[in-house]
Amino acid sequence: MTIPNPAGHSQPRLQRDNDRVTSVVFSSVNFIISVESNLYIAINDLTCSVSSHDSSLLFTMTASEQLLAALQGIDSGSYSNEAERVQARDALFNALRKVQSPWDIAWDHNWVNTAVNAAIKTLIDAGVFTKWAEAGGEPITCTELAKLTGGDTILIRRMMRCIGGQNLVIETAEDTYARTPWAKTLAEDKSFPSMYGGFYHELNSPMFRTLPFFLKETGYKNPTDVNDCNFQYWRGKDANMFQYCGTNPLLTDDFNNTMECHSKYNLTPWPVVYPTDALVAGAKPGRALVVDVGGGKGHDLKKFLARHPDAPMGSLVLQDLPDILKNVESGDNAAITIQPHDFFTPEPVKGARAYFMHNVLHDWPDATAKRIIENIAGAMEKGYSKLLVHESLVTDVKPLSRVTVSDITMMACLAAAERSESQWRDLMASAGLRVVKVWRPVQSVESIIEAELA
Ligand SMILES: C[S@@+](CC[C@H](N)C(=O)[O-])C[C@H]1O[C@@H](n2cnc3c(N)ncnc32)[C@H](O)[C@@H]1O
Repeated sequence: MTIPNPAGHSQPRLQRDNDRVTSVVFSSVNFIISVESNLYIAINDLTCSVSSHDSSLLFTMTASEQLLAALQGIDSGSYSNEAERVQARDALFNALRKVQSPWDIAWDHNWVNTAVNAAIKTLIDAGVFTKWAEAGGEPITCTELAKLTGGDTILIRRMMRCIGGQNLVIETAEDTYARTPWAKTLAEDKSFPSMYGGFYHELNSPMFRTLPFFLKETGYKNPTDVNDCNFQYWRGKDANMFQYCGTNPLLTDDFNNTMECHSKYNLTPWPVVYPTDALVAGAKPGRALVVDVGGGKGHDLKKFLARHPDAPMGSLVLQDLPDILKNVESGDNAAITIQPHDFFTPEPVKGARAYFMHNVLHDWPDATAKRIIENIAGAMEKGYSKLLVHESLVTDVKPLSRVTVSDITMMACLAAAERSESQWRDLMASAGLRVVKVWRPVQSVESIIEAELA
């Protein structure tokens, strides 16, 4: 099925087998998605092709009709695992960029993203997604949605048309919409709307608005001072981003919920990336097994517990700032202890098997991150305790876009940055630790840096 394209053609060209057309190559192929019973799309960096066992199907369709048919057939059943889905998504994104005009791209950035986010938040706040689910979740008219929510039909219709245009809900008949997985998740997962709520509207959106002006005013220098960066340029010098989040009631829970969503939907569980069995096997009785430093709602400890349900009572310690932990409950998990702790003070849990930090150190510039690591190092037992840092590494060539977007986010909120492997090694060494191994699963965005006292 793979159709090489050494010449790098970008024009459609026919593939023939005994004078029968078997496929149409648009531009080289490294994977194939079956999109309909007899139609396949194959995509990689160089080629996008559509092919069929039934060549008559290809004879009767123009090249662009075949591509459109194949693309329309793609759905969540088109790939057999998450890695394949991500590969398909990225290939389709690359293909989209090739067909978009410069104006299309600018329109997306400056009109689509802004208008759609406003429409989504309005519909969430008006209760559209939850009331729709409570009413059964079947295809529904805007008039019915307006009745359910008490909103104005005309307004609801305009908002629904806007998100319908983005395929976030599907128009099945005039004025009638069906839910997509995204729309269902907004109703079924209480944490999911937080990404559009306090997180985007109270934090990300205003914070990114000021970044270019801050950088202009500071002469385009790379920011490295957490107490004097874009965040203070936007909000004043009273607080850094985390202090602000802890005191803004619109944001505290939404920040935590957003981190939970990243963890739930977006990231490979850390016990899959790192061999946690070895931690458990070498653990000394009566000691803490894992201390999750800056652990937010404790989702990473719950992932550990899912893999090791026999973790002893109280052996998993969740630490974060008191304001962040005030609404967090350990639930029925007797293994988890909640302990308010500021990591700029000495680590109180001594000689734990592992100190774990997930997306914590990327929040802080080097000098500050070094202080945090030193506070943990002071509690580690040489030859026994591990520091496990779960982060996305910036590769030297073609870093993942998810990581480079996160890098600019860290810059905007805390004058911080995502790091390369060598930068992590230097940082650990500066705090008296040595990197034992970097665990980098091929399909995971994030790696785990395993370090011990040097
Ligand atoms: C980006 S979040 C990551 C949360 C969690 N580890 C995860 O991966 O979802 C960073 C966490 O560090 C916490 N944090 C910030 N400053 C802190 C401090 N001084 N002491 C303890 N935790 C802090 C924040 O409250 C937040 O929960």
